[in-house]
Amino acid sequence: MVALLFFIGCFGFILYPTLYSAEDYEKEYPLQLDNEVLRICNESNIDYRKSLYASALYDITDEPSTTQRNHQQHQPQPAPQQPPSNGTEPMIYFVTPTYPRREQIAEIIRLGQTLMHVPRLHWIVADDTDSCSDTLNKHIRKFGIPYTQLASPMPELYRVRKNAPRGVANRRAALNWIRQNQKKTGVLYFGDDDNTFDLKLFSEIRTTRKVSMFPVGLIGDYAISSPIVRNGRVEGFFDSWPAKRKWPVDMAGFAVSLEYLALSPNATMPFKAGYEEDEFLKSIGLKMGDIEPKARNCTEILVWHTQTKSSKSPTVRISMDRQKLDKLNLGALLRQLESMGVNHISDSAGTTAQAIVNGSVKPLSFWFS
Ligand code: UGA
Ligand code: MN
Repeated sequence: MVALLFFIGCFGFILYPTLYSAEDYEKEYPLQLDNEVLRICNESNIDYRKSLYASALYDITDEPSTTQRNHQQHQPQPAPQQPPSNGTEPMIYFVTPTYPRREQIAEIIRLGQTLMHVPRLHWIVADDTDSCSDTLNKHIRKFGIPYTQLASPMPELYRVRKNAPRGVANRRAALNWIRQNQKKTGVLYFGDDDNTFDLKLFSEIRTTRKVSMFPVGLIGDYAISSPIVRNGRVEGFFDSWPAKRKWPVDMAGFAVSLEYLALSPNATMPFKAGYEEDEFLKSIGLKMGDIEPKARNCTEILVWHTQTKSSKSPTVRISMDRQKLDKLNLGALLRQLESMGVNHISDSAGTTAQAIVNGSVKPLSFWFS
C-alpha cells in the first residue's frame, strides 16, 4: 500500500542564545515546515526471524576470566547475552536515515544482517527521496524484520547548502510516523546506515527509562565521544567538538524511551548541521539527572561511527548490443548494478569492458562470434 500524507508540522520554537534575533533564527533553521513529506512506502509487522534468534545469542566478553588470568585451561562457555525473547520486552524502534548513492544497498545489507539478530525490533528505514525505492524495498523485506519504509526528501533549500543537515528530514518523518501511529511504549534509537553496532547495544538500550547514553567510537579528534560518569552518574561529556552544545553527543550515543518522548509532543530535530542531537535533546527537555549511563557505566564501546569511503561510479563502455549479454550472466549482473547506481554503462565512453579467456583478453563480442 502506498499512502501519501502531507501534513503541517506544529512544532514549538526553541530559544537559542546566539547573535540571531529570534525571527532570523527561525528563518534560518525553521522547526516548522509547510509541506513536510511523510510517504509510507511499505510496512510489515510480521517477524519472520523468530527461529533465528530463539536460542542463539551469545556474549563474547573481552575481559579475561579468572581462569584465563591464572593460565589454567579455559573452556569456552558461551554465556547467553540476553534471555531468549518472550515477546514482551520493550520494542526498539530503530530509525535509519538513508539516501540513494552507490553504497546504499551494501550498507543496508550489512546493517540489516546485524538487526536480524535482535528480537523485538521495528526497523524504520527512512529514505531521503521523493518516491519509494523498489530496489531498497526488495532488500529490506528479505531480512524478515518488522519494518516501515518511508520516503522523505531533504528540502531543496537545505540540499544546496555546503554543510547540509544530513538525515534530518527522514528522521523527522520517522518521529512523525511514531506519533501518528501512537507508539507510546518502547525505545527510540537513531542508527545511521553506515555505523557499526555491537549486538550488546540492543539489550542495553532496551531498558531505557528516560534517556540512556553510552560511548561512540571513532568520533572526532579523540576517536571517542562519551559521557563522563562518576559514581554511576553522568556529570559531563568527553567530545572533541564542544561547539557550545549543551548535549555534545553523537546521534548514535543515546536512546530515548517513547514514554518519555510522548511527554514532549513538539519535540523535533532542526535542519541545523552539527546541532541535530543537541537541539533534539533540548526539545525533549532533557535534564542531566534524567540520563542513565549504559555500557557498564560508559566503559564499553558498543557502537562505532564507521564511515564508508565514497567513490565515483565508474562508467563501463559496452558498444555491442546489450541484450546479447542476457545470454550470459553479465546481462543480469550489470542491470542490477546500474539499478543501484553502482556503475553506469555507456556505448561510447568509459572503461572498455573486456573478457579474459584462458589468460587472454577478448572483446565481449567474442562470445557471439
Ligand atoms: C554525523 C552524525 O553521526 C549523524 O548522525 C549526523 O546526522 C551527521 O553527522 C550530520 O550532522 O550531518 P556522518 O557520518 O558525518 O554523521 O554523516 P552521514 O553518515 O553521511 O549521514 C548521517 C545519516 O544521514 C546516514 O544514515 C545517511 O545515510 C543519512 N543521509 C546522509 C541522508 O539521509 N541524506 C544525505 O544527503 C546524507
Ligand atoms: Mn555516517
